[in-house]
Amino acid sequence: MSEKKQTDVLVIGSGAAGLALALHLADYCKVMVLSKTSLQEGASYYAQGGVAAVAAANAHDSFEAHIQDTITAGRGLCQYKAVEYVVKNAKAAIDWLINIGVDFTQETTEDGVKQYHLTQEGGHTHRRIWHAADSTGKAVKETLDARVRAHPNIEIIEQAIAIDLIKKKNRCVGAYFLDEKTNHVKAIVAAHVVLATGGASKAYLYSTSPVVSSGDGIAIAYRAGCRVANMEFNQFHPTCLYHPKENSFLITEALRGEGAFLRLPNGQRFMDSYSELAELAPRDIVARAIDDQMKRNGYENVFLDITHKSPEFIREKFPMIVERCLSLGIDITQEWIPVVPAAHYTCGGVMTDLHAKTDVSNLYAIGEVACTGLHGANRMASNSLLECLVFAKAAGESIIAELSSAIEEVDIAPWDEHRVMQSDEAIVITHNWDELRRAMWNYVGIVRTDRRLERAMSRILMLKQEIKDYYAHYKVTRDSIELRNLVLVSELIVRSAMQRKESRGLHFNSDHPKTDARFDGVMTIL
Ligand code: FAD
Ligand code: SIN
Repeated sequence: MSEKKQTDVLVIGSGAAGLALALHLADYCKVMVLSKTSLQEGASYYAQGGVAAVAAANAHDSFEAHIQDTITAGRGLCQYKAVEYVVKNAKAAIDWLINIGVDFTQETTEDGVKQYHLTQEGGHTHRRIWHAADSTGKAVKETLDARVRAHPNIEIIEQAIAIDLIKKKNRCVGAYFLDEKTNHVKAIVAAHVVLATGGASKAYLYSTSPVVSSGDGIAIAYRAGCRVANMEFNQFHPTCLYHPKENSFLITEALRGEGAFLRLPNGQRFMDSYSELAELAPRDIVARAIDDQMKRNGYENVFLDITHKSPEFIREKFPMIVERCLSLGIDITQEWIPVVPAAHYTCGGVMTDLHAKTDVSNLYAIGEVACTGLHGANRMASNSLLECLVFAKAAGESIIAELSSAIEEVDIAPWDEHRVMQSDEAIVITHNWDELRRAMWNYVGIVRTDRRLERAMSRILMLKQEIKDYYAHYKVTRDSIELRNLVLVSELIVRSAMQRKESRGLHFNSDHPKTDARFDGVMTIL
């Protein structure tokens, strides 16, 4: 028999998106935040580069320039209204973060004036990235975590894994979740439910993302009847550290923004033969160039070189990366850093409007789980934390305006476990997980072909059936919930990739290597 809890707003996920929303709402209503592991864990905490925002429209930068850069990176698939909305609300999001205590890096000019230091990343034509050295996510998350923990109207439930939504007709009225502390499935009834569960990069064997990024929210929303869009556009970050002891540590793009070069093992630079922007080209181009060089020459990795900058400069700008690499025996002030591309960000997701509303009434989606139209076929660096913050505020305003539609008594079916038993072969999960992520890496990576996509699909469908059987016979666990979601999300990625018979942004299919103008503005909607 499942237990039942009740709240005004249920926020599923405790990343930057979920917690910013919880804070926007908490002075108006009761909020419950579900967090899969601990409040801190999620991609947001590991963000390095920063948050993009035009400081003030002036001779150096403008809203138009940020809009245009985003649209250029998005290769004809960005929704102009979403881009404009995010760019124009960006500075307010930065001000809000500063106001709640985020300590962005500042510098003192030659005239002795203190000002925020803005850095640059791929695709941005101007310095507009607000950052806290190279640990922006940590600075943002620690501030949000502390504020959320201190607010009396916010109840936090950690080790709580949302399984599925509860719907009455087309209205979302709550969710079931596995409480890992008690090992029971419980129900939460809520007037409004918000998915803030992050991305799905764990569908791939090598990824910069934490294990919680298993696409749960996308799978949950799809099962509930929401449209999911642009799933073929999985972003690969060009520079993940290549090291046997550390295979998911990101080396921030801000290194290239501050002048680092990409080199082949013989020292040759190569990016200028792929783009006139060289190392500062958007990510799809840089990742593909590295992949091309590695495959063409049989290299295991390429190198990132910032040794031409002074050690003081490097230590001041990138203290965390200096320290982490040193702990692995690499002194980045003297040595090149071995790097490879790795899965990093899910550009597609649950379709939402400018209020973060999904297709299901009273269900919202914010952050990486959502497809707002901002990123199109390729996200520009540091536009993601920004999107989390801007749409958290938009969702908050929309929910506050509708709070009067308070929840009536809802009759919820208890979670039925009477036909399932405790699994005695949990190893199946590990095997399936490994097989799935390897198939995605091998066949649905940076360069795809029709044949590879077909191979991936046949493996995914077989795994999906095995996982379905397992799920139906055994008590749910965190692993089985995640795997069920990952296999569905992988299927959505491959189905979307099969539908797009062209190459565009992050989706490159060598059987259809050109961008087809007939598909400009055409999203892949499942
Ligand atoms: P997350 O921060 O991933 O949080 C998701 C939350 O949902 C977690 O709390 C998780 O536990 C929870 N959750 C998931 N499933 C469930 C479930 N079933 N039940 C309950 N809870 C669940 N972007 C930038 O703009 N700038 C950067 O500098 C930058 N650097 C990055 C560096 C790294 C290493 C990575 C991986 C990403 C980076 N990104 C950056 C991308 C950006 O960090 C993410 O897109 C963004 O933080 C996503 O925030 P979110 O709140 O949507 O999700
Ligand atoms: C990075 O710091 O390179 C990551 C930035 C991002 O993903 O936006």
